[in-house]
Amino acid sequence: MLRLGVLLSGGGTNLQAIIDAIASGFLDAEIVLVVSSRSDAYGLKRAAAAGIPTIALSGEVYADPALADRLIAAELARAGVEYVVMAGYMRRVTEPILTAFPDRVLNIHPALLPSFAGAHGIADAFHAGVKLTGVTVHFADAAYDRGPIIAQRAIPIEEDDTLEALEERVHAVEHLLYPEVLQWLAAGRVSINDQRHVCIGLP
Ligand code: GAR
Repeated sequence: MLRLGVLLSGGGTNLQAIIDAIASGFLDAEIVLVVSSRSDAYGLKRAAAAGIPTIALSGEVYADPALADRLIAAELARAGVEYVVMAGYMRRVTEPILTAFPDRVLNIHPALLPSFAGAHGIADAFHAGVKLTGVTVHFADAAYDRGPIIAQRAIPIEEDDTLEALEERVHAVEHLLYPEVLQWLAAGRVSINDQRHVCIGLP
């Protein structure tokens, strides 16, 4: 069973999707710690409701990002975390976390990376007029929304789409894809080759 630590900053619907996938038996994992970069994140309430230990950090802690990440890495290690799952974590992870969890930090992004990185992936794609956007799950490196891509799902943008309708479809895909990728990891199917490309083995 995979031991997960989830980092978030907001509503936590992806956290909820992972909690639900574990509860339903789809995902062979346990969330052992949730760390929030905001003390008012609704995701903290979701974690508490599921009986998951939480840590909320204040803005002052992040004044020194390396210090904040040393603290976070130490807490994740103490909880016995194997994979660090960023789920709407609106901060870069830095060296202390990446060194403590090499190729074991994941991120989800609501666009087809490397397009539309940043905090507004859905709106940026919508306003750019592209006909196709989607969802990306990737291993994180020190740049925000960058690193070896594990999985992508495409989502067409229709002529009469609204941003709200697109957001709803993107989130629905996220909530399926993140648990699916985590289950690939739990089943030992994910590797990174010499080119730093991710390969998914057969079940
Ligand atoms: C998700 O759409 C996630 O992909 C996005 O934040 C949202 C968090 O929602 N992350 C990024 O944009 C990272 N650059 P949630 O808190 O309800 O899971």
